Amino acid sequence: MRNCRLCRAEGRGTDPVGGAPAPGVPGYDSAGLAVLNKGIKTRKVKGRVADLASAVPARFKGGIGIGHTRWATHGVPSDVNAHPHLDSSERIAVVHNGIIENADELRAKLTADGAEFASETDTEVLAHLIARTVKDTDTLADAVRTALKSVVGTYGIAVLDAERPGEVVVARNGSPIVLGIGEKEMFAASDVAALVRYTRQVVHLEDGELAVLDSDGFHTFTMDARETAKEPLTVDWDAGHYDTGGYEHYLLKEISEQPETVARTLRGRLDDRFHIAHLGGLNLTPHETRAFRRVKIIGCGSAYYSGQIGAQLIEELARIPADAEPASEFRYRNPVVEHDTLYVAISQSGETYDTLAAVQELKRKGGRVLGIVNTVGSAIARECDGGVYLHAGPEVSVASTKAFTSTAVAFGLLALHFGRVHDLSPADGRRICEGLRRLPGQIAEILEKEQEIAELARKYAGHPSMMFVGRVRGYPVAREGAQKLKEISYVHAEAYPASELKHGPLALIGPDMPTVAIVPDDELLDKNLTTLGEIRARGGQVLMVGHRVAEPKLVDDCIVVPKNEVELDPILLTIPLQIFAYHAAVALGRDVDKPRNLAKSVTVE
Ligand code: AGP
Repeated sequence: MRNCRLCRAEGRGTDPVGGAPAPGVPGYDSAGLAVLNKGIKTRKVKGRVADLASAVPARFKGGIGIGHTRWATHGVPSDVNAHPHLDSSERIAVVHNGIIENADELRAKLTADGAEFASETDTEVLAHLIARTVKDTDTLADAVRTALKSVVGTYGIAVLDAERPGEVVVARNGSPIVLGIGEKEMFAASDVAALVRYTRQVVHLEDGELAVLDSDGFHTFTMDARETAKEPLTVDWDAGHYDTGGYEHYLLKEISEQPETVARTLRGRLDDRFHIAHLGGLNLTPHETRAFRRVKIIGCGSAYYSGQIGAQLIEELARIPADAEPASEFRYRNPVVEHDTLYVAISQSGETYDTLAAVQELKRKGGRVLGIVNTVGSAIARECDGGVYLHAGPEVSVASTKAFTSTAVAFGLLALHFGRVHDLSPADGRRICEGLRRLPGQIAEILEKEQEIAELARKYAGHPSMMFVGRVRGYPVAREGAQKLKEISYVHAEAYPASELKHGPLALIGPDMPTVAIVPDDELLDKNLTTLGEIRARGGQVLMVGHRVAEPKLVDDCIVVPKNEVELDPILLTIPLQIFAYHAAVALGRDVDKPRNLAKSVTVE
């Protein structure tokens, strides 16, 4: 083996040693690496990979190494707390993604036993623990296995041993580890994104699995040393999918490619003869589908908000009671899991820990779980009983846009499928099929308004706070609009059901708190227009997003989007809010693709 590169991140992100940041690594606060060359040599810095690159001297060479971008959980972002962490004798180096829950207890024991800790991190206990076991074990893998037996928590780790320069051991429990099989070289990473420029042959580790990477490839084992067989997967995406394609930011690229990505989510799934959707991966017979009495949707952040749109679509088209809930809330409230409820887990990355753990909890309780996931082969996809892949391509920018839209479209397909298996008429089935087919073209129409929306974003970006309101179908759209503005422009934004304003938040309304109102042409139009009047009456500015221009006495500005079927309109009404947030963030000089404090997929609890 000529070369072995390993990438790790506490909680997030990966990038090959010494290389430019791999795509898909937004949201980290420090970086570090270690190589083996007559002992372990490390460099670690608070800051970006570019800062690390300039801190690494040219002669910093090694045939084997591990790297890491950190998203702090224990200890402030600093050079000392950056990974890798070494034991006092500098024999063992560890990088870690996850949270060691009994770190304090282990640290106390190790300190009492003479270990000297350099950092505040939970991770450093692993280096000291492994250093203690490696002396009494034949292999590094045995040492890691033994050490991990006393660890409580989640981890994706990579371990170097100065006295075994030909191998690296990685292990997974809760946080993703993907092996990359190269030509005479081996890789490991938290995310396929870091591997595709070197290889498209990957192997996903399961929870409780270890792997030894050495000159002739890799071997995988369970925690009780049983060898496991792994079939490499070929990744669809290549490095080209991960560049900005000439756009200034990944976010603008991903907003702009939605006509194609929505078309890909729809491709081959609409049947114009029976006006139904074909979803080959559901693993559900029509009989089983008809037996479900409820649909429960779980996800986090924007995935959860797209789930709210999904719940409305399923109730409207299939008349099955449905609702959505944040995955971690669902998991920790000890839910009553019912056999005639179908559970749907949503995740772009497929690795979000809160959602993954909720799916595992449901499985433990015998729940039937479908997944709507973008990343092929990811942990959540592997855990679910069936599901729908979005085929939206890799989403690099932290703020989710195309995956949000494709998830809502996937719910359109799922609701159409369930509806036609239940009592949705062929005529209504045709109406929805045609509506879904119109979406890519109508999204392209909205994208042509980018400069008009950019101007409005610049007009409102100076306000410290904004209110987003919508009713029923407009409410999840308002929530996602507020989410986008918050996470990339750092402008405080609240989303409320428009009907709730008069029960409290109306007190916030005034000249310094503009309102973005989602006002579709549906049965609630008049009620929404009344709300605009209530806001204007209190001196509030109104930016309306709807299907027609409202009277100047009710609004300051309007963004008009093309009309589709009333059930599908929320999908189109969200697009202008993505563009608005993007241009507000640009106007405020924010790091659009790598917003502070956030990570692309949150693999820690
Ligand atoms: C969305 O813009 C955010 N990045 C975040 O809320 C995200 O939706 C959430 O972390 C869930 O991620 P997932 O879809 O990869 O599970």
